[in-house]
Amino acid sequence: MPLRVIVGVSGGIAAYKAVTVVREFVLRGAEVTVIPTASALRFVGLPTWEAISRNSVPVDLFDGVAEVRHVALGQQADLIVLAPATAHMVASLAGGFAGDLLGTTVLASRAPVVIAPAMHTEMWENAAVRANVDTLRSRGIIVVGPESGALTGEDTGVGRMSEPHTIVEAALAQVAPQTLKGRHVLISAGGTREPLDPVRYLGNRSTGAMGVALAEQALARGAEVTVVHAHLEVSLPRGVAGIAVSTSEEMLSALMDAQPANDIILMAAAVADWRSVEVSDHKIHKSDKPETWEPRLERTPDILQELVGARRPGQMIVGFAAETDLDPETRESTAREKLVAKQSDAIVLNLVGDRVGFGEVETAVTLITASPQSLTFEGTKSSVAGRLLDALPEL
Ligand code: C5P
Repeated sequence: MPLRVIVGVSGGIAAYKAVTVVREFVLRGAEVTVIPTASALRFVGLPTWEAISRNSVPVDLFDGVAEVRHVALGQQADLIVLAPATAHMVASLAGGFAGDLLGTTVLASRAPVVIAPAMHTEMWENAAVRANVDTLRSRGIIVVGPESGALTGEDTGVGRMSEPHTIVEAALAQVAPQTLKGRHVLISAGGTREPLDPVRYLGNRSTGAMGVALAEQALARGAEVTVVHAHLEVSLPRGVAGIAVSTSEEMLSALMDAQPANDIILMAAAVADWRSVEVSDHKIHKSDKPETWEPRLERTPDILQELVGARRPGQMIVGFAAETDLDPETRESTAREKLVAKQSDAIVLNLVGDRVGFGEVETAVTLITASPQSLTFEGTKSSVAGRLLDALPEL
């Protein structure tokens, strides 16, 4: 049964970003009912909400009276998300007002409620709003954001609604089964850089999105998460212990230090396979070298292999393989060879190339284990990461 999510939208300009919130829930397979307030509909119209949620959108307290809609929606919901939550919405929630369909739905529900406030800084800092937010928190309502940044007018400050992705992650974390409770998960993310001189390096296009998605999903499942990261282009989720490194050598030592305390190790980082034998201590000038020259490269340590070599009983170690071969069978057989060579518990294979694989994009990965059957997951990096973590206990 899909997760039933209610997205309540109140009337603030950030309502346009709530469209993406709805979209992200739908892409992850949730059944979404959007309940916009009357003023939200002045910002974003009904057809948009219906099309994006793929569902009809109730707006009036007196719609669907025969099915007692004003309470049924709340009773059936697994999760309620209010984005944006204006100062007025925050006050109505704190007061327990039931004057519209969103109000009755929230009151009639036992589902977790997550709100993403959005308003100008002065309003957010106003004593009335502060008191209302405190009241909501004390009742167990989860408050995501607001963030600091550019507001609608010329002003900047606290009050900007959190990014849709952050809201969706925080909300889903409220309902994720706590399958990793008490487990320690160590994740490597990003791409290492191997210096040639103080300004140049050999690197790769990894953004760290997959490692960060794994971290978010592991957190949501109750794990204690450590991320050893190199040159992330996405932000680390709150609540993880982050260790920043740059080179493969630094990543090796950070991971080896963290290894004993962890139960599951996910090696999602793109680690350089070679580094320059000589690293100049000053910027190499064109005049230092002939027209054509070859830096001498040497192999970097294979971190995954080192971790497997030091593995303690019961520790699970998963490698990742980014492959460019377009033929799926060839890709899979290369990954199976890696599984044998590296002796990890599993290899997660994904296709990368010019237009696929890097950044916050939809992806497809194949989980390869000693079993001849492999499992393929497709979707956003978050949903793929979640399903990978759910498949791990099967190993
Ligand atoms: O051999 P290949 O680089 O394709 O293997 C990929 C897996 O090995 C990834 O999990 C990657 O993080 C890991 N790796 C490593 N150390 C290296 C190179 C890759 O741990 N030097």
